[in-house]
Amino acid sequence: MTTLAIEAHSLGKHYKEATALSDLSLQVEPQQIYALLGPNGAGKTTTLSILTTLLPPSSGTARVAGFDVVQQAHEVRRRIGVTFQEIVLDRDLTGRQVLDIHGQLYRLGKAERTRQISELVALVQLEDAIDRGVKTYSGGMKRRLELARGLMTKPEILFLDEPTQGLDPQNRAGIWDYIRTLNREHNLTVLLTTHYMEEAEALAHRVGIIDHGTMVAEGTPAGLVASIGTELIRMQGSGDTAHFINTITTLPFVLRVDQDQQQGAIQIYVDNSTRRLLDVVQMAGSNGMRVDDISIARPTLGDAFLHYTGRGLRDS
Ligand SMILES: Nc1ncnc2c1ncn2[C@@H]1O[C@H](COP(=O)(O)OP(=O)(O)OP(=O)(O)O)[C@@H](O)[C@H]1O
Ligand SMILES: [Mg+2]
Repeated sequence: MTTLAIEAHSLGKHYKEATALSDLSLQVEPQQIYALLGPNGAGKTTTLSILTTLLPPSSGTARVAGFDVVQQAHEVRRRIGVTFQEIVLDRDLTGRQVLDIHGQLYRLGKAERTRQISELVALVQLEDAIDRGVKTYSGGMKRRLELARGLMTKPEILFLDEPTQGLDPQNRAGIWDYIRTLNREHNLTVLLTTHYMEEAEALAHRVGIIDHGTMVAEGTPAGLVASIGTELIRMQGSGDTAHFINTITTLPFVLRVDQDQQQGAIQIYVDNSTRRLLDVVQMAGSNGMRVDDISIARPTLGDAFLHYTGRGLRDS
């Protein structure tokens, strides 16, 4: 039996005013990319803080790289890298100084630090900027530097709290590439938190949906989508849309109907999309709707999220 990279059992974190985590369990296999996906205040940062030994749990236990995060915090710290949700770079330093000081903090020798810095700077493509002050960096460059800093100590397991928060799509895709490379070529286990649906879908081997301090669903992205037992017919049409939606909602095989605010497409969630396509077209015809376009579409992780949490994920 191989040791799990990360395992948490019934973690709780209670404050006087609030419960941040109520009963959270999770398991991450070595060399997996695991995404904790959840809305603001779900308990993602709290979970990460406990797993990285920065915060003691009120209840439950967790092991990282086989070591207990409370009893053997030192052993855990030697094997992990962390980047935080808030950027915490000293603006008066150059990028190189940030990395070097971090290496010194972890007692890496001079030669080792130099070797690590040149390798990591190449990985995150900061060669041109590494000797400039961090205050001249863009948001994307700061995130890349933070990623490099988290990697200075050659961790086995990397914890990333919202690694692309606030980045534009291009910078976000860049960070995703580095994370994939680290996972594939350096066998790194990655636990990241995100409230971006696309991030979990693009990166993660497994996803845990977390809400109100507990895990509400868990699996591969495709598995989570399949587990909701829903297929999707997407229709573009004109006519009395409201009446059509009301009518079709009453059919037993229709699980939910909603309308895309921007494009006006009607999304009809059904038990079996190929079998129900003709019924939907006929219903439209007999309810005065003109069908301009109709297609079978696949539900997304966003649909699974809505199913399990009962609400959409604010993209803020
Ligand atoms: N030190 C604290 N004292 C009191 N309540 C706290 C404390 N830290 C966190 N909480 C509460 O616990 C809950 C979970 O917080 P947490 O930061 O883990 O959420 P999150 O999922 O990381 O959210 P976000 O997406 O906004 O980063 C929130 O309701 C938060 O207000
Ligand atoms: Mg957070």
